[in-house]
Amino acid sequence: MQKQTIKDVEVRGKRVLVRVDFNVPLDPDGKIEDDSRIRACLPTIIYLAGHGARIILCSHLGRPHGRVNGPLRLGPVARRLSELMSIPVKALREAVGPTVEQAVSAMQDGDIVMLENLRFYPGEEENDPGFARDLSRLADLYVNDAFGASHRAHASVVGIAAHLPCVAGLLMEKEIEQLSSLFEDPPRPFALILGGAKVEEKIGILENIIPHVDLVLIGGGAAAAFLQVRNPSDGGFPEEPGTIVQVETVTKQAKTLGVRILLPDDVVVTAKPEPGAAFRIVASGQIPDGYRIADIGPLTLAVFTRELQQCRTVAWNGPMGVFEIPQFSKGTKDIAKVLAGLGGTTVIGGGSTAEAVNRFGLAKKMTHVSTGGGAFLRFLSGETLPGVAVLADKQGPAP
Ligand code: 3PG
Repeated sequence: MQKQTIKDVEVRGKRVLVRVDFNVPLDPDGKIEDDSRIRACLPTIIYLAGHGARIILCSHLGRPHGRVNGPLRLGPVARRLSELMSIPVKALREAVGPTVEQAVSAMQDGDIVMLENLRFYPGEEENDPGFARDLSRLADLYVNDAFGASHRAHASVVGIAAHLPCVAGLLMEKEIEQLSSLFEDPPRPFALILGGAKVEEKIGILENIIPHVDLVLIGGGAAAAFLQVRNPSDGGFPEEPGTIVQVETVTKQAKTLGVRILLPDDVVVTAKPEPGAAFRIVASGQIPDGYRIADIGPLTLAVFTRELQQCRTVAWNGPMGVFEIPQFSKGTKDIAKVLAGLGGTTVIGGGSTAEAVNRFGLAKKMTHVSTGGGAFLRFLSGETLPGVAVLADKQGPAP
């Protein structure tokens, strides 16, 4: 990787501000549903603690838009981290200001504190220089381990770089290396699986990755627009004309490059994607009016499975259906099982795809499950993430 990491700098005795993405899903009672994002940062935190740094963690949780919001306090997240590490993690009730500065000045080497939710402060999302400066007063060094938030030009991601030397954490390093490897002559055949609901958010990935892959498999709601391009009366609910134009363009690009795009032959459809809702399996050209795609059908699953089993590299973004609802989860679950048994390189990403793989207990069988949602999409679309751009270069001067 071109960027300096915590291994390139001296951290002993230093106050190190570590931006993490502990934006974890919470259930209606405020309990953490999936702690993968916390676990993913453990290597960085353990390394820093083991090397005598004073660790000041900071994160956002949810979208409180600059106001204190009780259920989005980071106390329970700090408790979960403390359980995972078996050492105390002190949760502070603010992120900046004299009380926080006092708590930080009392820290010993190896201690860990966690600041309050950064998005309780309007300055965070506004990338306010004053808020970035207040944060920087707490530390000697800044570490970005929040790959999942690095597409946001916020104060704790970008503004902070004006005040502190900035290096990558170990999760950030792993994310960049794994995702970049998809563009660096990966073992072939290489397939991209694309699903999920909002096809317009995936066009960027397709345009950028198509020159590198042999095959694209499209499932989930994303298939509707491609089906309509193949035959305007297919695909169920009509798509926006702008989306159709984008899909037409990318379909032509694939054809020119000799990349096959496989669409579902059959789909599970429902009028209401709700638990217990009635559903039908229909040919993908015969989706009844008012029905939506809720999963890929059995024929499609068989074709996709056969194709994927030939591949040596697979990148996957977007579930095959509404996997949160048991009767619509089969396609996503079975595709996850195929990848888990593949023996090739499997890179999974985008919030709900990672959530599905975690839920099915298959994450450990994948080469890499990205912690990024929007950040994963932007990175694979070829964008430079603002939070990565500000990190010190390996070739550059010592931070
Ligand atoms: C995510 O969940 O993708 C990241 O934590 C970023 O969250 P955001 O979309 O609210 O900025």
